Amino acid sequence: MWQLQPSLWIFLVLVVPSIRAAYEDYRLPRSVEPLHYNLRILTHLNGTDQRFEGSVQIDLLARETTKNITLHAAYLKIDENRTSVASGQEKFGVDRIEVNELHNFYILHLGRELEKDQIYQLEMHFEAGLNDSQSGYYKSNYTDVVTQEVHHLAVTQFSPTFARQAFPCFDEPSWKATFNITLGYHKNYTGLSGMPVLGCQDHDSLANYVWCNHDTLLRTSTYLVAFAVHDLENAATEESDTRNRVIFRNWMQPKLLGQEMISMEMAPKLLSFYENLFQINFPLAKVDQLTVPTHRFTAMENWGLVTYNEERLPQHQGDYQTQKDGFARTVAHEYAHQWFGNLVTMKWWNDLWLKEGPSTYFGYLALDALEPEWSRGERFIGRDLANFFSKDSNATVPAISKDVKDPAEVLGQFTEYVYEKGSLTTRMLHKLVGEKAFLQGIRSFLGSYSFTNANQADLWKSLEEAALQNEVISSEFNLSRAMDSWTLQGGYPLVTLIRNYKSGEVTLNQSRFLQEQELDKDSSCWWVPLRFVSQKLPDFVQTTPQFWLECPVNTKVLNLPHLTSPDEWILLNPQVANIFRVNYDELNWRLVIESLKNDPHSGGIHKLNRAQLLDDLMALAAVRLQKYDKAFDLLEYLEKEQDFLPWQRAIGILNRLGALLRVEEAIKFKNYMQKLLLPLYNRFPKLSDIAESKLAIKDIPFANFAYSQACRYHVADCTEQAKILAKTHRNGGRLELPSDIQKVAYCSLLDEGGDAEFQEIFELFQNSTNGSQRRILASALGCIRNFENFEEFLNYTLKSDEKLFSDCHMLAVTTALDREHLVSQTENYILSHTKPLGEKFKKKELTGLLLNLAANLQSSKEIDRLEAHLKDIKEFNEPLQKALHQSKMNQKWRKECTSDFIEAIEKHL
Ligand SMILES: *[C@@H]1O[C@H](CO)[C@@H](O)[C@H](O)[C@H]1NC(C)=O
Ligand SMILES: *[C@@H]1O[C@H](CO)[C@@H](O)[C@H](O)[C@H]1NC(C)=O
Ligand SMILES: *[C@@H]1O[C@H](CO)[C@@H](O)[C@H](O)[C@H]1NC(C)=O
Ligand SMILES: *[C@@H]1O[C@H](CO)[C@@H](O)[C@H](O)[C@H]1NC(C)=O
Ligand SMILES: *[C@@H]1O[C@H](CO)[C@@H](O)[C@H](O)[C@H]1NC(C)=O
Ligand SMILES: *[C@@H]1O[C@H](CO)[C@@H](O)[C@H](O)[C@H]1NC(C)=O
Ligand SMILES: *[C@@H]1O[C@H](CO)[C@@H](O)[C@H](O)[C@H]1NC(C)=O
Ligand SMILES: *[C@@H]1O[C@H](CO)[C@@H](O)[C@H](O)[C@H]1NC(C)=O
Ligand SMILES: [Zn+2]
Repeated sequence: MWQLQPSLWIFLVLVVPSIRAAYEDYRLPRSVEPLHYNLRILTHLNGTDQRFEGSVQIDLLARETTKNITLHAAYLKIDENRTSVASGQEKFGVDRIEVNELHNFYILHLGRELEKDQIYQLEMHFEAGLNDSQSGYYKSNYTDVVTQEVHHLAVTQFSPTFARQAFPCFDEPSWKATFNITLGYHKNYTGLSGMPVLGCQDHDSLANYVWCNHDTLLRTSTYLVAFAVHDLENAATEESDTRNRVIFRNWMQPKLLGQEMISMEMAPKLLSFYENLFQINFPLAKVDQLTVPTHRFTAMENWGLVTYNEERLPQHQGDYQTQKDGFARTVAHEYAHQWFGNLVTMKWWNDLWLKEGPSTYFGYLALDALEPEWSRGERFIGRDLANFFSKDSNATVPAISKDVKDPAEVLGQFTEYVYEKGSLTTRMLHKLVGEKAFLQGIRSFLGSYSFTNANQADLWKSLEEAALQNEVISSEFNLSRAMDSWTLQGGYPLVTLIRNYKSGEVTLNQSRFLQEQELDKDSSCWWVPLRFVSQKLPDFVQTTPQFWLECPVNTKVLNLPHLTSPDEWILLNPQVANIFRVNYDELNWRLVIESLKNDPHSGGIHKLNRAQLLDDLMALAAVRLQKYDKAFDLLEYLEKEQDFLPWQRAIGILNRLGALLRVEEAIKFKNYMQKLLLPLYNRFPKLSDIAESKLAIKDIPFANFAYSQACRYHVADCTEQAKILAKTHRNGGRLELPSDIQKVAYCSLLDEGGDAEFQEIFELFQNSTNGSQRRILASALGCIRNFENFEEFLNYTLKSDEKLFSDCHMLAVTTALDREHLVSQTENYILSHTKPLGEKFKKKELTGLLLNLAANLQSSKEIDRLEAHLKDIKEFNEPLQKALHQSKMNQKWRKECTSDFIEAIEKHL
């Protein structure tokens, strides 16, 4: 599933309880096991009251003798009189039915006992309205562009705990069963489930209605079951070139037909890639890909019926290429799920990472294998590493494998953090045991647990066996224990490496890296794989560990005479295969920096390591384990850096710190940034020539980045160029900029411009009908210098009820806060509009807003003011706490580090 849109789940807060001691937790009792469901759903889409009626017949195996059956149901009207339990012809009386709303439990108390090892049939009849909340069986609609008629459709979103809203079921991932689904609907529509239709017959009493039987769905968890009744059109039917010749259909509303559809193009190729990689055939005969007008997430990997959110499709405007990259990643992720998640499922949601991590990582591998020239997977890995090292340095960050109980906690697991760290953990395994053992282990894991469930320990075991067989680890080594140390606790270690240049010995120790730097108070430790690279033999390809830094033994002394020549550097962690930071002794840092600055090939150091060295030194300076002087020495090598990743990492960090500087300091910082960015800027064609110069697609992200940073700091003629560009790219009177550089061009135009430029861009915004175009314009509008203009835009977007306008409001504010000119006025605006903001935005959005604000507040007075204003407003409560924490960290940095930082800048100007 991709990805968390955590805004919509308020309704989940459940009605008050009649809690019984027997149900202390949210898990179903294990006394009966569902084997098979016969599910019949009749969907009514005509009229205003869209609803469904259904029946389910579940074959149950009694695992022990019991007089009651508990299963999940929520928001369903269940006809108690037709609820029955039978064993063959013999009916059982149901004495009493108990509903436990808190746990979504529906409990049948039976007249007599079910016998152990016997199979029973439970039958239930139910109905409910198709809901608006994009979960369970929900309704959606689209308007035909020609006739302006509204078309209704119904589709499911069951992950993670919403199947219970569509039919009574055992709604936990480990209760896998087979499903016979029969859908009833009016002939105007198409009915889909995960399996092909076997045949249809007319409905007994409803004219023009049919019942269609679908083939049996293989053993699966309820969250992966899906069905839909719709009148969308199939853009194309394709067949994969895999052994099973899987049929793909691509359903969407008519206006999308003919548009480039990444999912359609990529799905068959991905299936074939993964079949080869995993050596297990995709087990279903067909996949329907359904682009739904409204969807809770970006996409969902349902077995045989993958759904996509139409609102998140890349739109042919603005940063189309970036959007396409993101969507390609989603598609690649969903298809990796067909193995990780669908074929082998986590036992419980605590191990959500076990499907999301590998699906994210294998998705990256697939992108780079299918379209290597774009190096998208590599860029995503670089981005994930940057996020991880920054976010995971907070003391409260949870483990990725952590206990979750109720549906809200389950949904709360779907965080970017679990996806990213899960992916990096999978990558770590890959690099740790090497290609051969990794693939062998993964294949064996998927093979052993196909159609069943597994936990992380099972994955470790499979990898351990493969590693042992390939002699990558020794039989004494406990890989499971080592890997647990990464998934069962949050955070990551800082490894310190000190060389003795006389003896050739290196001393290593580890401690948790915390932004707050109370290192000694934290006794966490990790099993850290150690692989060294030496300057004389800069082999960054081999990543299997030579040693381990153990846990809890935190210090290790190694003698590495063959590696360590005293006048050459050594580095740890080639390719940043493992997620830890490294600090070196003084001389080793010097050797690395000299090599990067002077060697035409950057000393042979891998680009991810180059990015990480920058990141590590900046982070170490921020906790005063190093001086900024050294970090700025290292930054000098960027002049020669040809790759996007190190640039992106370094500038991202510098921008964050720059925001904390006071006026005089900021001027020096700006001068420094101009100097740093000039060689980068000069490397790309002039903006005014951009349309003619035809950048290669793979260079677009880098070029975009270079222009936006250069114009932001007014490097050379960047903003002038943007103006020329705007002058020359007009169609009649209308501004028409080349799509890839719109954001930076509009921003520069506004930054340099006045009222006329504002009015023009604002009008473009109002006239535009394209969401992604509007987002770009909105985000550029935050670059305006005149606050009255800006306020006009803020008021306009705040007044509107449209979600898109709220997003646009937030985007503009984010840009404004990220730039120096309007920060305090924007802050005033926020503080004087707390009521509409609190009503309009969700907690996560308000948190983002306040964090952005806090990132730009320099004095404790400003922070006190923020607190005084917001502390009694309920909606802002939690966001405020996060922002205050952030401010505290920033204040600490200001107090402890600014002089060091500014001194370093002065020295390197
Ligand atoms: C919808 O169709 C059903 C089946 O034909 C019919 O019984 C019902 O009256 C219709 N409802 C409306 C509002 O047209
Ligand atoms: C259901 O039966 C089991 C014994 O099989 C008992 O332990 C449990 O308390 C019963 N549950 C309820 C809700 O009565
Ligand atoms: C169930 O049966 C009882 C007794 O026959 C009756 O009073 C009740 O209305 C029925 N409930 C439904 C939903 O039909
Ligand atoms: C179409 O769907 C939107 C979004 O769910 C909803 O707000 C709107 O009321 C629906 N339109 C109709 C005519 O049902
Ligand atoms: C499920 O459907 C298959 C194929 O139509 C059929 O052979 C099988 O008997 C059905 N299973 C049950 C339990 O009804
Ligand atoms: C089915 O389609 C026909 C023709 O488009 C239309 O007149 C009719 O109202 C539709 N019926 C339903 C139930 O959607
Ligand atoms: C916006 O639309 C109005 C009315 O159609 C038109 O006069 C105006 O030129 C448009 N503005 C821009 C900037 O395209
Ligand atoms: C970081 O940790 C602090 C306390 O240790 C907590 O208050 C804060 O909310 C955390 N920040 C984030 C962004 O999670
Ligand atoms: Zn996913």
